[in-house]
Amino acid sequence: MADDTTDTKSSNQMWGGRFASGPDAIMEEINASIGFDKKLFAQDIRGSIAHATMLAHQGIISADDKDKIVHGLNTILSEIESGNFEFSRQLEDIHMNVEARLATLIGPAAGRLHTARSRNDQVALDFRLWVKEELEKTEQMLTGLIAAFLDRAEEHAESVMPGFTHLQTAQPVTFGHHCMAYVEMFGRDRARVRHAIEHLDESPIGAAALAGTGYPIDRHMTAKALGFREPTRNSIDTVSDRDFAIEFLSIAAIAGMHLSRLAEEIVIWSTPQFGFVRLSDAFSTGSSIMPQKKNPDAAELVRAKTGRINGSLVALLTIMKGLPLAYSKDMQEDKEQVFDAAESLELAIAAMTGMVRDMTVNTARMKAAAGSGYSTATDLADWLVREAGLPFRDAHHVTGRAVALAESKGCDLAELPLSDLQAIHADITDKVYDVLTVEASVASRKSFGGTAPSEVRRQIAFWRARN
Ligand code: ARG
Repeated sequence: MADDTTDTKSSNQMWGGRFASGPDAIMEEINASIGFDKKLFAQDIRGSIAHATMLAHQGIISADDKDKIVHGLNTILSEIESGNFEFSRQLEDIHMNVEARLATLIGPAAGRLHTARSRNDQVALDFRLWVKEELEKTEQMLTGLIAAFLDRAEEHAESVMPGFTHLQTAQPVTFGHHCMAYVEMFGRDRARVRHAIEHLDESPIGAAALAGTGYPIDRHMTAKALGFREPTRNSIDTVSDRDFAIEFLSIAAIAGMHLSRLAEEIVIWSTPQFGFVRLSDAFSTGSSIMPQKKNPDAAELVRAKTGRINGSLVALLTIMKGLPLAYSKDMQEDKEQVFDAAESLELAIAAMTGMVRDMTVNTARMKAAAGSGYSTATDLADWLVREAGLPFRDAHHVTGRAVALAESKGCDLAELPLSDLQAIHADITDKVYDVLTVEASVASRKSFGGTAPSEVRRQIAFWRARN
Protein backbone atom coordinates (compact mmCIF):
# COMPACT_ATOMS: atom_id res chain seq x y z
CA MET A 1 0.00 0.00 0.00
CA ALA A 2 1.42 3.38 -0.95
CA ASP A 3 1.15 5.95 1.79
CA ASP A 4 1.14 9.47 0.54
CA THR A 5 0.34 11.03 -2.76
CA THR A 6 0.99 14.32 -4.39
CA ASP A 7 1.11 17.74 -2.84
CA THR A 8 -1.47 20.34 -3.68
CA LYS A 9 -2.39 23.66 -2.22
CA SER A 10 -6.09 23.43 -2.93
CA SER A 11 -8.45 23.25 0.03
CA ASN A 12 -9.69 19.95 1.42
CA GLN A 13 -12.24 18.36 -0.87
CA MET A 14 -14.25 16.98 2.04
CA TRP A 15 -14.53 19.98 4.36
CA GLY A 16 -12.77 22.78 2.50
CA GLY A 17 -15.85 24.78 1.41
CA ARG A 18 -15.05 27.77 3.58
CA PHE A 19 -11.29 27.52 3.14
CA ALA A 20 -9.51 29.67 0.55
CA SER A 21 -6.31 27.63 0.57
CA GLY A 22 -4.92 24.30 1.59
CA PRO A 23 -3.01 23.59 4.77
CA ASP A 24 0.58 24.44 5.53
CA ALA A 25 2.80 21.39 5.10
CA ILE A 26 3.35 21.14 8.83
CA MET A 27 -0.39 21.44 9.45
CA GLU A 28 -0.98 18.53 7.14
CA GLU A 29 1.68 16.52 8.93
CA ILE A 30 0.37 17.11 12.43
CA ASN A 31 -3.25 16.70 11.39
CA ALA A 32 -3.13 13.50 9.39
CA SER A 33 -3.86 10.16 11.00
CA ILE A 34 -3.99 8.01 7.87
CA GLY A 35 -0.51 6.65 8.64
CA PHE A 36 -1.99 4.65 11.49
CA ASP A 37 -5.79 4.72 11.23
CA LYS A 38 -5.74 2.94 7.88
CA LYS A 39 -5.69 -0.10 10.14
CA LEU A 40 -9.41 0.62 10.64
CA PHE A 41 -10.36 0.27 6.98
CA ALA A 42 -12.47 -2.89 7.36
CA GLN A 43 -14.38 -1.48 10.33
CA ASP A 44 -14.87 1.84 8.51
CA ILE A 45 -16.35 0.14 5.47
CA ARG A 46 -18.53 -2.18 7.54
CA GLY A 47 -19.87 0.81 9.44
CA SER A 48 -20.58 2.75 6.26
CA ILE A 49 -22.44 -0.16 4.68
CA ALA A 50 -24.64 -0.49 7.77
CA HIS A 51 -25.23 3.27 7.84
CA ALA A 52 -26.14 3.50 4.13
CA THR A 53 -28.45 0.51 4.40
CA MET A 54 -30.25 2.12 7.32
CA LEU A 55 -30.50 5.47 5.49
CA ALA A 56 -32.21 3.76 2.55
CA HIS A 57 -34.47 1.71 4.81
CA GLN A 58 -35.60 4.94 6.46
CA GLY A 59 -36.17 6.63 3.09
CA ILE A 60 -33.41 9.17 3.76
CA ILE A 61 -31.51 8.13 0.63
CA SER A 62 -32.81 6.19 -2.38
CA ALA A 63 -32.38 2.44 -2.73
CA ASP A 64 -30.52 3.10 -5.95
CA ASP A 65 -27.95 5.34 -4.28
CA LYS A 66 -27.60 2.84 -1.46
CA ASP A 67 -26.84 0.06 -3.93
CA LYS A 68 -24.20 2.17 -5.63
CA ILE A 69 -22.66 3.09 -2.27
CA VAL A 70 -22.56 -0.50 -1.02
CA HIS A 71 -21.11 -1.76 -4.27
CA GLY A 72 -18.48 0.97 -4.28
CA LEU A 73 -17.54 0.31 -0.65
CA ASN A 74 -17.09 -3.39 -1.36
CA THR A 75 -14.85 -2.53 -4.30
CA ILE A 76 -12.76 -0.31 -2.01
CA LEU A 77 -12.54 -3.11 0.53
CA SER A 78 -11.04 -5.48 -2.00
CA GLU A 79 -8.75 -2.74 -3.34
CA ILE A 80 -7.33 -2.15 0.13
CA GLU A 81 -7.12 -5.85 0.96
CA SER A 82 -5.20 -6.57 -2.21
CA GLY A 83 -2.85 -3.60 -1.73
CA ASN A 84 -4.26 -1.67 -4.69
CA PHE A 85 -5.37 1.41 -2.84
CA GLU A 86 -3.48 4.64 -2.70
CA PHE A 87 -3.80 6.29 0.70
CA SER A 88 -3.46 10.05 0.69
CA ARG A 89 -2.20 12.12 3.58
CA GLN A 90 -4.04 15.17 2.26
CA LEU A 91 -7.26 13.30 2.89
CA GLU A 92 -6.24 13.11 6.55
CA ASP A 93 -7.74 9.90 7.74
CA ILE A 94 -9.26 6.58 6.78
CA HIS A 95 -12.79 7.99 6.73
CA MET A 96 -12.05 10.62 4.12
CA ASN A 97 -9.74 8.37 2.13
CA VAL A 98 -12.55 5.87 1.71
CA GLU A 99 -15.18 8.49 0.96
CA ALA A 100 -13.04 10.27 -1.63
CA ARG A 101 -12.35 7.01 -3.42
CA LEU A 102 -16.07 6.24 -3.32
CA ALA A 103 -16.77 9.52 -5.11
CA THR A 104 -14.28 8.58 -7.82
CA LEU A 105 -15.89 5.18 -8.21
CA ILE A 106 -19.61 6.03 -8.12
CA GLY A 107 -19.90 9.78 -8.58
CA PRO A 108 -22.38 12.07 -6.80
CA ALA A 109 -24.21 9.28 -4.91
CA ALA A 110 -21.09 9.03 -2.73
CA GLY A 111 -21.90 12.43 -1.31
CA ARG A 112 -25.07 11.03 0.29
CA LEU A 113 -23.25 8.54 2.52
CA HIS A 114 -22.26 11.14 5.10
CA THR A 115 -25.90 12.17 5.70
CA ALA A 116 -26.83 12.06 9.39
CA ARG A 117 -23.36 11.20 10.60
CA SER A 118 -20.07 12.88 11.44
CA ARG A 119 -16.52 11.64 11.59
CA ASN A 120 -16.92 11.95 15.33
CA ASP A 121 -19.41 9.10 15.61
CA GLN A 122 -17.76 7.34 12.68
CA VAL A 123 -14.36 7.12 14.35
CA ALA A 124 -15.95 6.14 17.65
CA LEU A 125 -17.67 3.30 15.80
CA ASP A 126 -14.63 2.11 13.85
CA PHE A 127 -12.42 2.14 16.90
CA ARG A 128 -14.95 0.34 19.09
CA LEU A 129 -15.37 -2.37 16.49
CA TRP A 130 -11.60 -2.76 16.32
CA VAL A 131 -11.16 -2.90 20.10
CA LYS A 132 -14.02 -5.38 20.39
CA GLU A 133 -12.33 -7.73 17.93
CA GLU A 134 -9.03 -7.33 19.73
CA LEU A 135 -10.66 -8.15 23.06
CA GLU A 136 -12.17 -11.27 21.52
CA LYS A 137 -8.76 -12.28 20.23
CA THR A 138 -7.22 -11.60 23.65
CA GLU A 139 -9.86 -13.79 25.29
CA GLN A 140 -8.93 -16.68 23.02
CA MET A 141 -5.22 -16.21 23.54
CA LEU A 142 -5.64 -16.18 27.31
CA THR A 143 -7.63 -19.39 27.03
CA GLY A 144 -4.67 -20.94 25.18
CA LEU A 145 -2.24 -19.79 27.87
CA ILE A 146 -4.47 -21.17 30.62
CA ALA A 147 -4.69 -24.50 28.76
CA ALA A 148 -0.89 -24.67 28.61
CA PHE A 149 -0.66 -24.10 32.37
CA LEU A 150 -3.36 -26.69 33.09
CA ASP A 151 -1.39 -29.30 31.18
CA ARG A 152 1.83 -28.48 33.01
CA ALA A 153 0.04 -28.39 36.36
CA GLU A 154 -1.44 -31.83 35.75
CA GLU A 155 1.95 -33.20 34.81
CA HIS A 156 3.51 -31.73 37.94
CA ALA A 157 0.73 -31.99 40.52
CA GLU A 158 3.16 -33.91 42.75
CA SER A 159 6.50 -32.31 41.84
CA VAL A 160 7.85 -30.57 44.92
CA MET A 161 9.58 -27.20 44.71
CA PRO A 162 10.41 -24.52 47.23
CA GLY A 163 7.69 -21.95 47.75
CA PHE A 164 9.09 -18.49 48.36
CA THR A 165 8.22 -15.34 50.23
CA HIS A 166 10.67 -12.43 49.91
CA LEU A 167 12.35 -14.78 47.40
CA GLN A 168 13.58 -16.68 50.48
CA THR A 169 12.66 -20.34 50.82
CA ALA A 170 9.41 -20.47 52.77
CA GLN A 171 7.57 -23.81 52.59
CA PRO A 172 7.57 -26.64 50.08
CA VAL A 173 4.85 -26.40 47.44
CA THR A 174 4.19 -28.33 44.26
CA PHE A 175 5.09 -27.00 40.85
CA GLY A 176 1.53 -27.80 39.82
CA HIS A 177 0.25 -25.51 42.54
CA HIS A 178 2.57 -22.74 41.37
CA CYS A 179 1.29 -23.17 37.80
CA MET A 180 -2.29 -22.96 39.04
CA ALA A 181 -1.52 -19.59 40.67
CA TYR A 182 -0.98 -18.27 37.15
CA VAL A 183 -4.18 -19.90 35.97
CA GLU A 184 -6.01 -17.85 38.59
CA MET A 185 -4.31 -14.65 37.41
CA PHE A 186 -4.95 -15.20 33.72
CA GLY A 187 -8.46 -16.37 34.53
CA ARG A 188 -9.11 -13.00 36.18
CA ASP A 189 -7.63 -11.23 33.16
CA ARG A 190 -9.98 -13.16 30.90
CA ALA A 191 -12.95 -12.26 33.10
CA ARG A 192 -11.95 -8.59 32.79
CA VAL A 193 -11.80 -8.99 29.02
CA ARG A 194 -15.31 -10.45 28.94
CA HIS A 195 -16.58 -7.67 31.13
CA ALA A 196 -14.99 -5.06 28.87
CA ILE A 197 -16.68 -6.60 25.82
CA GLU A 198 -20.02 -6.25 27.59
CA HIS A 199 -19.20 -2.63 28.48
CA LEU A 200 -18.35 -1.53 24.97
CA ASP A 201 -21.15 -3.42 23.27
CA GLU A 202 -23.10 -0.26 22.37
CA SER A 203 -23.19 1.31 18.94
CA PRO A 204 -22.03 4.95 18.62
CA ILE A 205 -23.15 5.54 15.04
CA GLY A 206 -25.93 8.11 14.75
CA ALA A 207 -24.67 10.30 17.59
CA ALA A 208 -23.42 12.45 14.70
CA ALA A 209 -21.17 15.40 15.60
CA LEU A 210 -22.34 15.48 19.23
CA ALA A 211 -26.03 16.38 19.31
CA GLY A 212 -27.71 13.61 17.37
CA THR A 213 -29.49 14.39 14.11
CA GLY A 214 -32.77 15.67 12.73
CA TYR A 215 -32.99 12.90 10.13
CA PRO A 216 -35.32 10.03 11.02
CA ILE A 217 -32.51 7.50 11.49
CA ASP A 218 -32.88 4.12 13.19
CA ARG A 219 -29.96 3.60 15.53
CA HIS A 220 -31.30 0.28 16.74
CA MET A 221 -31.11 -1.01 13.20
CA THR A 222 -27.44 -0.04 12.73
CA ALA A 223 -26.59 -1.34 16.19
CA LYS A 224 -28.05 -4.71 15.31
CA ALA A 225 -26.45 -4.85 11.88
CA LEU A 226 -23.04 -4.19 13.41
CA GLY A 227 -23.42 -6.81 16.12
CA PHE A 228 -23.87 -4.44 19.04
CA ARG A 229 -26.33 -5.16 21.85
CA GLU A 230 -27.92 -1.69 21.62
CA PRO A 231 -27.14 1.92 20.65
CA THR A 232 -25.41 4.27 23.12
CA ARG A 233 -27.84 6.49 25.02
CA ASN A 234 -26.19 9.93 25.07
CA SER A 235 -24.80 11.49 21.92
CA ILE A 236 -22.44 13.86 23.75
CA ASP A 237 -20.90 11.05 25.76
CA THR A 238 -20.77 8.84 22.69
CA VAL A 239 -18.39 11.05 20.72
CA SER A 240 -16.26 12.04 23.69
CA ASP A 241 -15.90 8.62 25.31
CA ARG A 242 -12.74 6.57 25.01
CA ASP A 243 -13.31 4.44 28.12
CA PHE A 244 -13.40 1.32 25.97
CA ALA A 245 -9.86 2.03 24.78
CA ILE A 246 -8.68 2.85 28.28
CA GLU A 247 -10.30 -0.30 29.63
CA PHE A 248 -8.50 -2.33 27.00
CA LEU A 249 -5.21 -0.71 28.01
CA SER A 250 -5.90 -1.25 31.72
CA ILE A 251 -6.64 -4.90 31.12
CA ALA A 252 -3.54 -5.17 28.98
CA ALA A 253 -1.47 -3.50 31.71
CA ILE A 254 -2.73 -5.87 34.40
CA ALA A 255 -2.27 -8.93 32.18
CA GLY A 256 1.14 -7.56 31.23
CA MET A 257 2.05 -7.27 34.90
CA HIS A 258 1.13 -10.94 35.37
CA LEU A 259 3.08 -11.96 32.29
CA SER A 260 6.03 -9.96 33.51
CA ARG A 261 6.08 -11.64 36.93
CA LEU A 262 6.04 -15.00 35.19
CA ALA A 263 8.78 -13.84 32.84
CA GLU A 264 10.87 -12.80 35.83
CA GLU A 265 10.38 -16.22 37.42
CA ILE A 266 11.46 -17.95 34.21
CA VAL A 267 14.55 -15.73 34.09
CA ILE A 268 15.41 -16.66 37.68
CA TRP A 269 14.51 -20.34 37.36
CA SER A 270 16.61 -20.82 34.25
CA THR A 271 19.84 -19.50 35.81
CA PRO A 272 22.47 -22.20 36.46
CA GLN A 273 22.18 -21.26 40.17
CA PHE A 274 18.51 -22.23 40.29
CA GLY A 275 18.35 -24.68 37.41
CA PHE A 276 14.62 -25.33 37.93
CA VAL A 277 13.69 -25.06 34.26
CA ARG A 278 15.45 -25.12 30.95
CA LEU A 279 14.16 -23.47 27.81
CA SER A 280 14.92 -25.29 24.59
CA ASP A 281 16.96 -23.70 21.84
CA ALA A 282 13.67 -22.65 20.27
CA PHE A 283 13.12 -20.09 23.05
CA SER A 284 16.70 -19.10 23.89
CA THR A 285 19.47 -17.11 22.33
CA GLY A 286 23.23 -17.29 22.58
CA SER A 287 25.85 -14.70 23.37
CA SER A 288 28.10 -13.37 20.64
CA ILE A 289 31.11 -13.40 22.97
CA MET A 290 30.46 -16.02 25.67
CA PRO A 291 30.02 -19.41 24.01
CA GLN A 292 28.60 -21.09 27.12
CA LYS A 293 25.61 -18.75 27.43
CA LYS A 294 21.99 -19.51 26.81
CA ASN A 295 19.80 -16.54 27.49
CA PRO A 296 16.04 -16.39 28.15
CA ASP A 297 15.57 -13.41 25.81
CA ALA A 298 11.92 -14.16 25.10
CA ALA A 299 11.09 -13.97 28.81
CA GLU A 300 13.08 -10.76 29.17
CA LEU A 301 11.24 -9.19 26.24
CA VAL A 302 7.88 -10.17 27.68
CA ARG A 303 8.99 -8.42 30.88
CA ALA A 304 9.92 -5.34 28.87
CA LYS A 305 6.74 -5.25 26.75
CA THR A 306 4.87 -4.64 29.97
CA GLY A 307 6.68 -1.33 30.32
CA ARG A 308 5.46 -0.30 26.88
CA ILE A 309 1.89 -1.27 27.66
CA ASN A 310 1.96 0.70 30.91
CA GLY A 311 3.26 3.67 28.94
CA SER A 312 0.32 3.47 26.54
CA LEU A 313 -2.18 3.37 29.39
CA VAL A 314 -0.67 6.41 31.05
CA ALA A 315 -0.44 8.22 27.71
CA LEU A 316 -4.12 7.79 26.89
CA LEU A 317 -5.28 8.63 30.41
CA THR A 318 -3.22 11.79 30.17
CA ILE A 319 -4.52 12.66 26.70
CA MET A 320 -8.11 12.37 27.91
CA LYS A 321 -7.92 13.86 31.38
CA GLY A 322 -8.32 17.52 30.54
CA LEU A 323 -10.67 17.38 27.58
CA PRO A 324 -13.91 19.30 27.75
CA LEU A 325 -16.92 17.55 26.21
CA ALA A 326 -17.38 16.56 23.49
CA TYR A 327 -14.87 15.60 20.76
CA SER A 328 -11.44 17.25 20.54
CA LYS A 329 -8.74 16.37 18.06
CA ASP A 330 -6.53 15.26 20.94
CA MET A 331 -8.55 12.08 20.82
CA GLN A 332 -6.99 11.13 17.51
CA GLU A 333 -3.92 10.20 19.56
CA ASP A 334 -5.82 7.29 21.11
CA LYS A 335 -5.22 4.81 18.31
CA GLU A 336 -1.47 4.39 18.23
CA GLN A 337 -1.41 3.70 21.95
CA VAL A 338 -4.00 0.97 21.62
CA PHE A 339 -2.49 -0.52 18.46
CA ASP A 340 0.97 -0.67 20.00
CA ALA A 341 -0.27 -2.15 23.27
CA ALA A 342 -2.37 -4.72 21.43
CA GLU A 343 0.61 -5.84 19.40
CA SER A 344 2.79 -6.07 22.50
CA LEU A 345 0.17 -7.99 24.46
CA GLU A 346 -0.47 -10.47 21.66
CA LEU A 347 3.24 -11.11 21.27
CA ALA A 348 3.75 -11.47 24.99
CA ILE A 349 0.90 -13.95 25.45
CA ALA A 350 1.98 -15.98 22.43
CA ALA A 351 5.63 -16.09 23.51
CA MET A 352 4.65 -17.01 27.05
CA THR A 353 2.31 -19.78 25.93
CA GLY A 354 5.18 -21.14 23.86
CA MET A 355 7.62 -20.99 26.78
CA VAL A 356 5.23 -22.62 29.24
CA ARG A 357 4.78 -25.54 26.88
CA ASP A 358 8.45 -25.62 25.94
CA MET A 359 10.24 -25.50 29.27
CA THR A 360 11.78 -28.65 30.70
CA VAL A 361 11.21 -28.88 34.42
CA ASN A 362 14.10 -30.24 36.48
CA THR A 363 12.13 -31.94 39.24
CA ALA A 364 15.26 -33.28 40.98
CA ARG A 365 16.73 -29.79 41.29
CA MET A 366 13.44 -28.41 42.51
CA LYS A 367 13.02 -31.11 45.10
CA ALA A 368 16.56 -30.70 46.43
CA ALA A 369 16.02 -26.96 46.71
CA ALA A 370 12.66 -27.52 48.37
CA GLY A 371 14.36 -29.30 51.26
CA SER A 372 17.03 -26.69 51.83
CA GLY A 373 16.59 -23.57 53.89
CA TYR A 374 14.71 -25.37 56.69
CA SER A 375 11.55 -25.26 54.63
CA THR A 376 9.81 -27.82 56.87
CA ALA A 377 10.33 -25.81 60.07
CA THR A 378 6.63 -24.94 60.12
CA ASP A 379 5.84 -28.66 59.91
CA LEU A 380 8.00 -29.26 63.01
CA ALA A 381 6.17 -26.49 64.86
CA ASP A 382 2.79 -27.89 63.74
CA TRP A 383 3.86 -31.35 64.94
CA LEU A 384 4.69 -29.93 68.40
CA VAL A 385 1.25 -28.32 68.53
CA ARG A 386 -0.52 -31.47 67.41
CA GLU A 387 1.49 -34.20 69.18
CA ALA A 388 2.96 -32.47 72.22
CA GLY A 389 0.09 -30.07 72.88
CA LEU A 390 2.23 -26.91 72.78
CA PRO A 391 0.67 -23.52 72.03
CA PHE A 392 1.76 -22.48 68.52
CA ARG A 393 3.86 -19.56 69.79
CA ASP A 394 5.88 -21.89 72.06
CA ALA A 395 6.20 -24.46 69.28
CA HIS A 396 7.49 -21.66 67.02
CA HIS A 397 10.16 -20.80 69.60
CA VAL A 398 11.25 -24.42 70.12
CA THR A 399 11.48 -24.89 66.35
CA GLY A 400 13.53 -21.74 66.04
CA ARG A 401 16.09 -23.22 68.44
CA ALA A 402 16.18 -26.44 66.40
CA VAL A 403 16.79 -24.43 63.23
CA ALA A 404 19.60 -22.49 64.93
CA LEU A 405 21.19 -25.74 66.05
CA ALA A 406 20.94 -27.30 62.58
CA GLU A 407 22.41 -24.15 61.10
CA SER A 408 25.37 -24.26 63.50
CA LYS A 409 25.94 -27.90 62.62
CA GLY A 410 25.54 -27.21 58.91
CA CYS A 411 22.80 -29.82 58.46
CA ASP A 412 19.08 -30.05 57.69
CA LEU A 413 16.41 -30.34 60.35
CA ALA A 414 15.80 -33.97 59.38
CA GLU A 415 19.50 -34.68 59.93
CA LEU A 416 19.53 -33.58 63.58
CA PRO A 417 19.82 -36.63 65.86
CA LEU A 418 16.83 -37.29 68.12
CA SER A 419 18.95 -36.61 71.21
CA ASP A 420 19.63 -33.07 69.97
CA LEU A 421 15.92 -32.46 69.36
CA GLN A 422 15.00 -33.90 72.76
CA ALA A 423 17.54 -31.66 74.43
CA ILE A 424 15.53 -28.75 73.03
CA HIS A 425 12.15 -30.24 73.96
CA ALA A 426 11.76 -33.50 75.89
CA ASP A 427 8.44 -34.50 74.28
CA ILE A 428 9.85 -34.87 70.77
CA THR A 429 9.85 -38.48 69.54
CA ASP A 430 11.26 -40.13 66.45
CA LYS A 431 7.79 -39.83 64.84
CA VAL A 432 8.70 -36.23 64.12
CA TYR A 433 10.95 -37.32 61.24
CA ASP A 434 7.83 -38.33 59.28
CA VAL A 435 6.76 -34.70 58.89
CA LEU A 436 10.19 -33.31 58.10
CA THR A 437 10.28 -34.56 54.50
CA VAL A 438 9.12 -32.22 51.76
CA GLU A 439 6.64 -34.78 50.40
CA ALA A 440 4.95 -35.14 53.79
CA SER A 441 4.88 -31.39 54.20
CA VAL A 442 3.19 -30.87 50.86
CA ALA A 443 0.75 -33.78 51.26
CA SER A 444 -0.40 -32.43 54.63
CA ARG A 445 -1.57 -29.08 53.25
CA LYS A 446 -5.01 -30.21 52.23
CA SER A 447 -6.84 -27.04 53.22
CA PHE A 448 -9.07 -25.73 50.41
CA GLY A 449 -6.78 -24.08 47.85
CA GLY A 450 -3.69 -25.57 49.50
CA THR A 451 -0.66 -27.18 47.89
CA ALA A 452 -1.43 -30.88 48.53
CA PRO A 453 -1.53 -32.79 45.22
CA SER A 454 -5.15 -33.75 45.92
CA GLU A 455 -6.07 -30.05 46.24
CA VAL A 456 -4.09 -29.09 43.15
CA ARG A 457 -6.03 -31.71 41.20
CA ARG A 458 -9.27 -30.26 42.51
CA GLN A 459 -8.20 -26.80 41.26
CA ILE A 460 -7.27 -28.25 37.88
CA ALA A 461 -10.67 -29.91 37.55
CA PHE A 462 -12.39 -26.61 38.42
CA TRP A 463 -10.55 -24.77 35.65
CA ARG A 464 -10.77 -27.55 33.09
CA ALA A 465 -14.54 -27.28 33.32
CA ARG A 466 -14.26 -23.54 32.62
CA ASN A 467 -11.68 -23.44 29.89
N1 ARG B 1 -9.16 11.25 12.39
C1 ARG B 1 -10.04 11.67 13.40
C2 ARG B 1 -9.74 10.90 14.70
O1 ARG B 1 -9.08 9.95 14.65
C3 ARG B 1 -11.45 11.44 13.03
C4 ARG B 1 -12.43 12.36 13.68
C5 ARG B 1 -12.26 13.76 13.17
N2 ARG B 1 -13.24 14.62 13.67
C6 ARG B 1 -13.17 15.96 13.60
N3 ARG B 1 -14.12 16.63 14.12
N4 ARG B 1 -12.12 16.54 13.09
O2 ARG B 1 -10.15 11.29 15.75
